[in-house]
Amino acid sequence: MQDLFTRFTLDEASEFLFGETVNSLRDKDSEFITAFNYAQMITAWRFRVPFWQYFVPKRRLLREVGVLDKFVLKIINNAIARKEAKEKSGEVPSDDEKGIHHDNLLDHFLHYQTENGFSKTYLRDMLLNFMIAGRDTTASLLTWTVWYLVEHPEVAEKVYNEILSVLGSTSIPTYDDIKKLKYQKQVINEVLRLRPPVPFNMRQSVEEDVLPNGYYIPPHTIVSYSAYVTHRMTEYWGEDADKFDPDRWGPERVGSIKPFMFVPFHAGPRICLGQNLAYTTAQIALTRLLQNFVFKPVTGFEPQKFGDIVLFSRNGVEVMVEKRNPVQL
Ligand code: HEM
Repeated sequence: MQDLFTRFTLDEASEFLFGETVNSLRDKDSEFITAFNYAQMITAWRFRVPFWQYFVPKRRLLREVGVLDKFVLKIINNAIARKEAKEKSGEVPSDDEKGIHHDNLLDHFLHYQTENGFSKTYLRDMLLNFMIAGRDTTASLLTWTVWYLVEHPEVAEKVYNEILSVLGSTSIPTYDDIKKLKYQKQVINEVLRLRPPVPFNMRQSVEEDVLPNGYYIPPHTIVSYSAYVTHRMTEYWGEDADKFDPDRWGPERVGSIKPFMFVPFHAGPRICLGQNLAYTTAQIALTRLLQNFVFKPVTGFEPQKFGDIVLFSRNGVEVMVEKRNPVQL
């Protein structure tokens, strides 16, 4: 499931960002995918072991980064040409008209390009930044959600029954349907608690400071924190902190979850910009999967948590997938 979800989120992110999918579910060895995976792997190593960069064969890295740049710049050039052609034909409202709807983020940025003076390089960096931020994180969330549903069939059944009552077994969920899938969101929050996709994070102080608990922080000091640890502290979550229990997010108990106890998307001014997109993507994907399939355990398989930049399973996640028959309501 992990491999499939990593490819799914790359396809989904590229469609949302550029209006064109990179189709990695169909072709996982394309030039773009190989370049993206390689550049990301090297960057992660540089983050973990700063001296590593002296040993990285630069020629391959530069070549792969060149592939990514060329790919994204071509999409930007095409989008600019499309926009100019439409403007010439009078099809699109002028830039200062309000309330315009855009099909993808690139078109949205292009709409504001003139007033903000976005260069092509800036647009390229912004799009790749969104892609890197959203791809593995959402894939990790979906992977662990499927794993917890396999481990807790009674929860899976409840999630499925909620889907049946809100939209049935065949419809594609609308945004309004998703908002009604409240138990499903509880399950997702519980997965984000026990398997936060970004398990560790850090900040560096610009000047001296004192944390709310009284710790003195000298200037230019790196302070690291772990969402993974915070989400399991019994002083916040109770003696059953390690237990997978989506009901702790139900209306009766959710009030005891205070801000900063739950930080899968970080917190404060640099909180994740994509959290709503992440919830929506995960909920739509999960709904469509559960409408069509039942996930069951593979005897003897146990995923091995791997706390890299993103929390994945070292050996992936293996499940049995059984086709469901549509239900007539
Ligand atoms: C379950 C999915 C996701 C999780 C757990 C997650 C988590 C995070 C975290 C912890 C940060 C803070 C990083 C830091 O500043 O050190 C962050 C930042 C960010 N995320 Fe996400 N993210 C997810 C999905 C997405 C998606 C789908 C997008 C957009 C396509 C996205 C875009 C961003 C951006 C642009 C930032 C930087 C915000 C800033 O620095 O002001 N994320 N995310």
